[in-house]
Amino acid sequence: MKSFDVVQVRKDFPILQEKVNGKPLIYFDNGASSQKPQRVIDRVSAYYEHEHSNVHRGVHFLSNQATLAYEAARARIAAFLNASSPQEIIFTKGTTDAINTVAFSFGETMHPGDEILITGMEHHSNIVPWQMLCERRGCILKVLPVLENGTLDISKLDHLLSEKTKLVSVVHVSNSLGTVNPVKEIIVKAHGMGAKVLLDAAQSVQHLPVDVQNLDCDFLAFGGHKIFAPTGIGVLYGKKELMESLPPYQGGGDMIEHVTFEKTTYNTLPLKFEAGTPNICGVLALAEAIDYLSSIDPLGAFRHEKELGSYLRDSMREIPKIRFIGEAPDTCSTLSFLIGDLHPFDVGTLLDQQGIAVRTGHHCTQPLMEQFKIPGTVRASLAFYNTREEIDEFVKALQRSIQILS
Ligand SMILES: Cc1ncc(COP(=O)(O)O)c(C=O)c1O
Repeated sequence: MKSFDVVQVRKDFPILQEKVNGKPLIYFDNGASSQKPQRVIDRVSAYYEHEHSNVHRGVHFLSNQATLAYEAARARIAAFLNASSPQEIIFTKGTTDAINTVAFSFGETMHPGDEILITGMEHHSNIVPWQMLCERRGCILKVLPVLENGTLDISKLDHLLSEKTKLVSVVHVSNSLGTVNPVKEIIVKAHGMGAKVLLDAAQSVQHLPVDVQNLDCDFLAFGGHKIFAPTGIGVLYGKKELMESLPPYQGGGDMIEHVTFEKTTYNTLPLKFEAGTPNICGVLALAEAIDYLSSIDPLGAFRHEKELGSYLRDSMREIPKIRFIGEAPDTCSTLSFLIGDLHPFDVGTLLDQQGIAVRTGHHCTQPLMEQFKIPGTVRASLAFYNTREEIDEFVKALQRSIQILS
């Protein structure tokens, strides 16, 4: 493995050579979705050109090959997360689908009065499935508050956890604030009360080493498209014994052992949770993206991102009337901000005219925006293929936008 080299790495991403509105693209919207290296794009084409067939079904050559590749990808992803077995890896459509799988399956074990604890900085996909579960089963949703600096108010954790808490579901890295949450501490405390823990790792697996055995989380969810793979593929990690004890989420082909009109018995893990034809190509492309990440010195890439994040924050301090939303001591390279009373949408539109892609709005965290009493933010979210030069251009473009809008 070579040491991380951003100039080389940028050549792997064809889209980074594109122009937008006549300007070289500066892509700072990686929190919404990241770009794809040529290797991943080629993997998709190769699959459909030479390898496509359904998995787990046929006796013919192509079906066997597709099944072998699909299961090898599962083992690759298990190794990436340091899961103890590939059986602990369930393929889903994405983070949202993985969280809903837990809400419906683990949710079946919950009773009226049982509690679910989330935090004030969750994405809607880690709020709404629990509200729906509470409605279905008479459970209670509790929320660990967020402090003004964008960190969790951990001092309230002991008070909120009780023997009624059956699940703690928490975002590892906040998509709106960039805060890296102290999830290990939360997991230890939750386990101390007998609760299971789900980590929403949608914004962490692409920025930090994530080791599920070391963290000791019970479930973990992430999607492929933020980690350089296509959309429509995601992962639910679940501890084997726990997953074995849970009912399936959906019924259909592949998740069964034997079906009669009177009764159906279910397949073993992981297929018990994969009803219907899966996103085979997406799975192979996700494994390819993870192989790619491993090949570019991931720790070097993560270090580069962190330095870029600090450089971005420092460079923006000189902008008059800048307000950072979230100033946690431990953040990933995601920065949310407002400038005076300029509307985020206007700032984002002017940046777009200068070739710069950022996200504006509430970032699917409306309760968090309400807490800060703001309609939304401008969010710059970086990846390892971004550079200091792009940040310099971004700050200049921002200053030009402010002049136009003021
Ligand atoms: C923290 C977090 N959780 C969940 C999601 C939902 O991911 P998806 O829409 O890919 O399912 C996102 C996407 O932005 C996210 O940032």
